[in-house]
Amino acid sequence: MKLTFYGHASVGIEANGKALLVDPFISANEQAKHINIDAIKADYILITHAHQDHILDVERISKRTGAKVVSNYEIVTHFGAKDLPGHPMNHGGKWNFEFGTLKYVNAVHSSSFPDGSYGGNPGGFVLTSEGKNIYLAGDTALMEDMKSMGAQFDFDWLVLPVGDNFTMGYEDAAIAAEWLGCKKVIGIHFDTFGYIEIDHQAAQKYFSERGLSLTLLSIGETIDL
Ligand code: NI
Ligand code: MN
Repeated sequence: MKLTFYGHASVGIEANGKALLVDPFISANEQAKHINIDAIKADYILITHAHQDHILDVERISKRTGAKVVSNYEIVTHFGAKDLPGHPMNHGGKWNFEFGTLKYVNAVHSSSFPDGSYGGNPGGFVLTSEGKNIYLAGDTALMEDMKSMGAQFDFDWLVLPVGDNFTMGYEDAAIAAEWLGCKKVIGIHFDTFGYIEIDHQAAQKYFSERGLSLTLLSIGETIDL
């Protein structure tokens, strides 16, 4: 599996030869100007919640690629009304896709569309593919559920928000990593706006002091999972 960071909370994942795109918010991200959004591959678009900084480019990319929207029922229904194909899920449910299995899991956050309409409850995904378990947390606070998720899954990678203010900060993300039982964290949801700017060195030092690793990718950078 490969993961490419497209800035903010947007990541592309190549799994079993399929292209997954999570929470695309690229065209309005000043720091992602060098990303050609119309060249991004997508077979599936995974959406954690309805906030603008997670859904902005869903329509544009799905219309071009035919990518299927995977999210909670309310978000899939919203995009279904715009003729985008979708697969609705809800919390605690899993489904076997051609690329692997997704489970839609809890998140502590909020989820409204930019016009204020209801976007269902916010979530995250556990992706199981190519023998690995990846936690895509979405926007969330540290939550007790992470202890039971850690007991249930043997995680290989955690994709966690670390920017603070709107989500957990890196200190709580380090606790999350301990509860989830996985040392390897890829940080998202940092530096895009003033409220979520972080000191990379301090965050990575904080992790390494606890025997954890925090990967903060450059926008456009790809790593093997
Ligand atoms: Ni949000
Ligand atoms: Mn967000």
